[in-house]
Amino acid sequence: MKDKTILITGSTAGIGKQTAISLAEKGYQVIITGRNKESGEKVVSEIKQLTNNQKIGLILADISTIAGIIKINAEFKSSYSNLDCLINNAGSASKSLTITPDGFELNFAVNVIAPYLLSTLLLDNLKLSPEPRIITLAGGDLPQSIDLSNLQNERYFDGLNSYSQSKVAMMCIMYDLSKKLRDTNITCNICYPGQARTSMTQNVTKEMLPKFMRPIYPIFKLAVRPDNGKSAKKASKSSIYLATSADVTGKSGLYVNKKIKIKQFPKIVMDDNSRKILWDYMIEKLSTKEYKHQNA
Ligand SMILES: NC(=O)c1ccc[n+]([C@@H]2O[C@H](COP(=O)([O-])OP(=O)(O)OC[C@H]3O[C@@H](n4cnc5c(N)ncnc54)[C@H](OP(=O)(O)O)[C@@H]3O)[C@@H](O)[C@H]2O)c1
Repeated sequence: MKDKTILITGSTAGIGKQTAISLAEKGYQVIITGRNKESGEKVVSEIKQLTNNQKIGLILADISTIAGIIKINAEFKSSYSNLDCLINNAGSASKSLTITPDGFELNFAVNVIAPYLLSTLLLDNLKLSPEPRIITLAGGDLPQSIDLSNLQNERYFDGLNSYSQSKVAMMCIMYDLSKKLRDTNITCNICYPGQARTSMTQNVTKEMLPKFMRPIYPIFKLAVRPDNGKSAKKASKSSIYLATSADVTGKSGLYVNKKIKIKQFPKIVMDDNSRKILWDYMIEKLSTKEYKHQNA
């Protein structure tokens, strides 16, 4: 495999960084993204040194904002042409209700809007590749339903449950996107990485846990203490599989778990009516912004 280009969001640390290292080892041209220039440049040097692959790029942007997503798209287009794979890895599990400059709830902005919008903006670059792939990372403990009246925590914010709800909403949107792309050569799949000891898990506060788990918070903290990227490397396997395996060439609308097994989506994702409500909701929210939605 040579000269394939992969863009991985949220790849200056955690699972995304380990994914970038493994794909660079395989010889891919890898473009990493994050917000922080210093850590981004450090990770680029580290990957080059570790893998002896010099084709590592960096795009800096805050993916929780529409401007940040537009920046990633513009900078990619100005430096590269075809995109073989987009891995929507960046995720958010916020501690409390946080509203972005665009007026979105933070988890919804990073976990739902960003994968959809970035994938859609990059479709023309993806179409230039022979087997283009879009991959998005799901969360664990997936609820079977979503409170459609609380999509951006307008009524209540419920710690990690709000994160899980946004991840299931993402699955609905990306599953719909896979259907909208069925007449193209682009595949669109979802994977669950499994738990990893990253900044995301280390930043979980006691209040974010469900009530029944709060008494064992000290044990939770012990279980997620840093392990020098070991668990993140393991957790990168499902996205690497979807990005590189010939088993899934041309296959779209799949959900792969941490053991690299194709699994059933949660019930809500298979529910056409709920997915339509979610899709229409998101497009309506986006159409009120400066950015104008382009249909896939
Ligand atoms: N860790 C787990 O146990 C676990 C379990 C299930 C699913 N997942 C999913 O796996 C994915 C990766 O998780 P992780 O644990 O590796 O996360 P993480 O350690 O928190 O990810 C850190 C990366 O995301 C970037 N990032 C965070 N917020 C960003 C923003 N607003 N704009 C741009 N970049 C941003 C960070 O860059 P900067 O800080 O430089 O911006 C860094 O590159 C997420 O989608 C997560 O939901 C994780």
